[in-house]
Amino acid sequence: MSARGLAVLALWAVILGACPSVSLSQAGEEDSSGRERHEIWAWGLNNAGQLGVVDLDTRAEPTLVSVVQGKEVTDLAVGGSDKKESHVLALLHSSKLYSTGDNSHGQLGLGDSLDREGLTPVPRVFSRDFVSVASGEAHSVALTSDGRVFVWGSNAHGQLGLASQTGTTIPDELKDGIFGADQGGGGRKVVGVACGARHSMAWFDDGDLYAWGDNSFGQLGTGNNKAVPGFAKVKLALKPALEGSPIKSISSGGFHNLLLTREGKVYSWGKNDYGQLGLGKSGAAVVSKPSPVKGLGDGLQVTKVTAGQGFSMILGSDGEVVAFGDNSSNQLGPGAGHPHQKEPREMRTDVRFKDLSCGQLHCIAASAEGAVFSWGTDSYGQLGLGSSVRSQAVKKPERVRGIGGIQRVFASATGSYALSSKGELYAWGKNNAGQLGLRATKNSKSEPEVVVKVSDSVQVKSISAGGHAFQYEAHSGVIMSNREVYTWGWNIFAQLGNGDAEVRQGIPRLVPWLGRLNLTSIVCGQFSTAAVTEAGELYMWGSNEAGQLGRGDFSASTSDPIKIPIAGEVKSVSIGYGHVLAVTMDGKVFSWGKNFYGQLGVGDHRDKSTPEAVSHLEGETIVEVSAGQYHSLALTKTGVVYAWGYNRDYELGLNDNMDRVLPQDIPTLKNRKVAQISAGSYHNLALAEDGSLLSWGLNNYGQLGRNADKYGKWPGLVSITDHQGGRKLKGKKIAAGTWHSLAIAENNQVYAWGRCHFGQVGSKCDKSGSGVQTIPVRVIELEDKRVMDIAAGAAHSVAVTA
Ligand SMILES: *[C@@H]1O[C@H](CO)[C@@H](O)[C@H](O)[C@H]1NC(C)=O
Ligand SMILES: *[C@@H]1O[C@H](CO)[C@@H](O)[C@H](O)[C@H]1NC(C)=O
Repeated sequence: MSARGLAVLALWAVILGACPSVSLSQAGEEDSSGRERHEIWAWGLNNAGQLGVVDLDTRAEPTLVSVVQGKEVTDLAVGGSDKKESHVLALLHSSKLYSTGDNSHGQLGLGDSLDREGLTPVPRVFSRDFVSVASGEAHSVALTSDGRVFVWGSNAHGQLGLASQTGTTIPDELKDGIFGADQGGGGRKVVGVACGARHSMAWFDDGDLYAWGDNSFGQLGTGNNKAVPGFAKVKLALKPALEGSPIKSISSGGFHNLLLTREGKVYSWGKNDYGQLGLGKSGAAVVSKPSPVKGLGDGLQVTKVTAGQGFSMILGSDGEVVAFGDNSSNQLGPGAGHPHQKEPREMRTDVRFKDLSCGQLHCIAASAEGAVFSWGTDSYGQLGLGSSVRSQAVKKPERVRGIGGIQRVFASATGSYALSSKGELYAWGKNNAGQLGLRATKNSKSEPEVVVKVSDSVQVKSISAGGHAFQYEAHSGVIMSNREVYTWGWNIFAQLGNGDAEVRQGIPRLVPWLGRLNLTSIVCGQFSTAAVTEAGELYMWGSNEAGQLGRGDFSASTSDPIKIPIAGEVKSVSIGYGHVLAVTMDGKVFSWGKNFYGQLGVGDHRDKSTPEAVSHLEGETIVEVSAGQYHSLALTKTGVVYAWGYNRDYELGLNDNMDRVLPQDIPTLKNRKVAQISAGSYHNLALAEDGSLLSWGLNNYGQLGRNADKYGKWPGLVSITDHQGGRKLKGKKIAAGTWHSLAIAENNQVYAWGRCHFGQVGSKCDKSGSGVQTIPVRVIELEDKRVMDIAAGAAHSVAVTA
């Protein structure tokens, strides 16, 4: 958190006393059933990142907003060396790529060379699904599910395999005869990637292994240690498996490689100055051909190989560990007592392990029970054994306290990472470049700290999509059931409230100080954002040009939440182009902001910079308000709808087009018992208690969803028909955007209509004519989901599914 953020928090701690909590029921129907996992989907215009899908590409297909809830870590690669700080690549829920740590060579793939202190989505390739990641000293390699290989970072030794460059800060796909769409050999697929410090490898499903980059120690496996331009095919004497590649995995320390076949055989090549290749006393210092590791013993069934800096470790199926190579820092654990161990020897320990990983001078391992053990050098707390760093190396596996349920471990040169079976990530060790991903701290950690936490239930409490006519840039926000608040999209007026000046933010960001306000609902307008707390307080942030912040002036934008002075407990709020409406628990309506068309409903046209009661509605109990571009709607407890403000397009449903400065009930809705209202920019939707759906106002893009001319001068019925039988469906929830409309029907499916130029009604857009969809169509991409909530913005849509 920034210093400013801390200041804000301190301020709120003073202002906010204890708040009574109110029970709430949001996001559609039944209250969340404990373990449910909601998902957020977004589609439509994305010119300001309002979809929250990391990039700024517009799309008609609903796309998972995975940054908000995609929390489980599924794979990790930790780079760096004794010369360079570490960088980390992580795959999170649904195969998305994130990175953190040292970025001096662009190895994080983020388009710059600034270090990151927390796992950050990699925008350029975020839409791809990755299955495997690998990281070297200062470069990165990642493999997609369809077999594409992406490379980035330093190319100083040719380790990217890109002909013409010294390096790239943006992931670049390898397309060079062997790799890419025009791969030779017809239809074979890359199934694995690995990195040494300065070289890279990839292997195909037919078992062919290619290597590129530095070959000073024969680590490319070509039979000599001459430089190789381009890709070298490693000559392997492996029997091809009946099906798929004979290679199970490859681990590279700095400059040597260990290869494990699916049959359980281990091969090694590269640097061998400490005997790290396990080739026995006679092994040369450089071995440039893959050679079988000797003396592993017949009984050993190898499940994993891991190469440290100058040493190697092998894990057997009974949990035993065999070690060889450099032992100057006791990194081989207890054994015969040699400084260098050229022949594989079993480590003496009672602990049985299921995973193991080694860094420069230390190792970490997960026991069969999910506990973590470590040994070797502790110079930065990488052993995780507590507060003081040990000057003496730790000679035998010691238990790391405070974590359990660990499935996999990953050691960088000077750091340690542990992944639980739930997908939770812990880290400890050196952190000077943000490589632990802990955000807001660069101190070394000598005890495990949680980097990614996973909760069983992830539920959305409130979601909103902003924007109005004329300016299609928009923003979005969500409140989760655990009170976390995320915002993303257009931020030119600080409407994201996260204190970051970046104008377009495609990556949803947690705003910690908003989370501490205990918010229950969020509403995004065009220029500002509003949120209601559990205690019924209303906060706003963003532009104050129209007096939206309610504090008696028309001043500059702010990203700090401002408490709006309203007498009473606020139930809900709605933001128009420049005006705001709020309704209290006891049914009173307040309005403030722009009033050129009488949209404040107080009988005049003067803008107001403090909330004023709409006294004309005093005899009524109002339960919902909705602000259009320049007009307003209010719904009474008995199901009557009032309308006021701008009426040039028949927004008020009164069969004339004269503006009103005072609320006027809509006569044709009187016998309908309306249950929900939603004002778009120049049109409106209403949902009656019996599930019938009505619309009125401007119809220039078919946003009324019914056979109306350019205007629907009074409320008329909209039909949503079942895609199979043509049965008429009742509505459950409505959302009107600027030029489009959304509804959830009784079958829990989302239907959309109106303007579809930008994909805001989904992929079923009758583009033949004018990009107009005049009747409701089902958003088919979400057909196997239960849609819980919807929000419609300027030209984008969001949905919450379960
Ligand atoms: C590594 O060195 C330490 C300290 O000399 C010794 O206790 C240990 O047995 C050695 N390990 C092996 C596998 O030789
Ligand atoms: C938010 O809720 C928590 C837990 O109920 C409470 O301890 C805290 O004081 C509340 N904070 C505010 C600002 O209301």
